Amino acid sequence: MKPVRKIIFPAAGMGTRFLPATKASPKEMLTIVDKPLIQYGVEEALAADMEQIVIVTGRGKRAIEDHFDISAELEANLKKAGKEKLYKRVSHVSRMAEVVYVRQKEAKGLGHAVLCARHWIADEPFGVSLADELIISDEPAMQQLRRVYEQTGYSVLGLMQVPADQVYKYGIVAYQAEEEGLLRLTDMVEKPQPEVAPSHLAIIGRYIFTPRLMELLRDVQPGSGGEIQLTDAISALAKEEPVYGVLLDGQRFDAGNPAGFLLANAVLGLQHETYGEALRTALKARL
Ligand code: UTP
Repeated sequence: MKPVRKIIFPAAGMGTRFLPATKASPKEMLTIVDKPLIQYGVEEALAADMEQIVIVTGRGKRAIEDHFDISAELEANLKKAGKEKLYKRVSHVSRMAEVVYVRQKEAKGLGHAVLCARHWIADEPFGVSLADELIISDEPAMQQLRRVYEQTGYSVLGLMQVPADQVYKYGIVAYQAEEEGLLRLTDMVEKPQPEVAPSHLAIIGRYIFTPRLMELLRDVQPGSGGEIQLTDAISALAKEEPVYGVLLDGQRFDAGNPAGFLLANAVLGLQHETYGEALRTALKARL
């Protein structure tokens, strides 16, 4: 079994739910407490021993490239001003990972964004992570997936339980429980009504795929809105070879919409070792 070394971050979407904030700056650069969303995702991937980060970007996404680039002038100024701690934080971001960028010229869907990275992936297994799904956990979410990949040698999707009245927002899986707690996925339904949902387990923005997924993606026909859906390729994959799910441990925030994003900032702000106490006091005084 080949090890998983590479991970794709699709970040070329339009971010329409965040307009006008995302008119000129990427959704993935929105800040949770003191770091942009994409940095949380990249740190999680590195903690799961991913070696190469492939970020799929589009128009108006230059800030992501600048964020992971070395800013010599800023670093020199921080050093000169004796701001050692800040200097370390800033220089760490630009040196923590090997990042490559791929351009998706038109936002033709998540599946298409993943396909844009095919030359970097070649014939290796690979991860996919959606940075706007923020997962805070003791064991990094990607590492939870990696364990199941290393146990089975097959693709693995991150899952979480969602309330019945929320299933219509997600890709929901049907599954069979196998020995050792493995969940083998038998079907996937995009945004079902609660009456027909096969379970309450939703696919949550973390994936490890065998290289076969890339080949199947090439054959996926555009669906509604001309988008190439990742779920269509996963369904085709599950017909050919096992696809597993792992119930993720951790706090998850759907930071891709304003309500989830605000909740993430509130919860992580209150838990923050530097800002938490002051925030709690200030909130108490106002509410
Ligand atoms: P989303 O649907 O959450 O992101 O896609 P979006 O399209 O930017 O947001 P809305 O719906 O307009 O508000 C999930 C992930 O897939 C990426 C997005 O950047 C996001 O990280 N994506 C989506 C692409 O890279 N390309 C696409 O064509 C579509």
